[in-house]
Amino acid sequence: MKEIIIIILISYLLGNFQTSYILGRVFKKTDIRKFGSGNAGTTNALRVFGKKIAIATLLIDALKGVAAVMIGREISGDIGAITAGVSVVIGHNWPVFLKFKGGKGIATTIGVGLTITFLSGIISIILGILIVIKTKYVSLGSLLAVIIWPVITIIVYKPFNLSLLILTTLLAIMALYKHRSNIRRLLSGQESKLGNKLN
Ligand code: G3P
Repeated sequence: MKEIIIIILISYLLGNFQTSYILGRVFKKTDIRKFGSGNAGTTNALRVFGKKIAIATLLIDALKGVAAVMIGREISGDIGAITAGVSVVIGHNWPVFLKFKGGKGIATTIGVGLTITFLSGIISIILGILIVIKTKYVSLGSLLAVIIWPVITIIVYKPFNLSLLILTTLLAIMALYKHRSNIRRLLSGQESKLGNKLN
């Protein structure tokens, strides 16, 4: 039990490292959460700051997921990895250091997904990218990718693995919850397309 609490704490704190917020503050003297969609993430970093900060955000936020899972696995095996995967995304989405106003967790979920469920993760990511290319809606690609991820995980990993289903479902629910405003905008035709400066 002590080990699991340590994993939760380390992963949550790793998740608190808000790349787009920190890079925006350091290089542009700007709080990303006050511009564009107001989200501290890759898509909004692209909108507000441009390609370089967006790519750095995607990579570093994804690496947080990878690092947390590796630490969790090292301390407590598969259960440790899964606990870390959920905790790092919670830390990213609801960071205590930024008054719980963080990002939507997609890049960090990509890192977790590729580390724990490489095959179903990569299939979901490719599907998400194809949807973004086709529709220009990053939110739609992100949402459909996380929704299909638990389903592909069940199909790909045999015998059936309940822990993987719990992990993928929890992360999908968190992503859906954090994308509530995107879902509303998608339904009303007001969602910002990739390349648009403002919603
Ligand atoms: O991962 C976030 C993306 O799906 C949507 O971002 O800034 O358009 O709300 P944003």
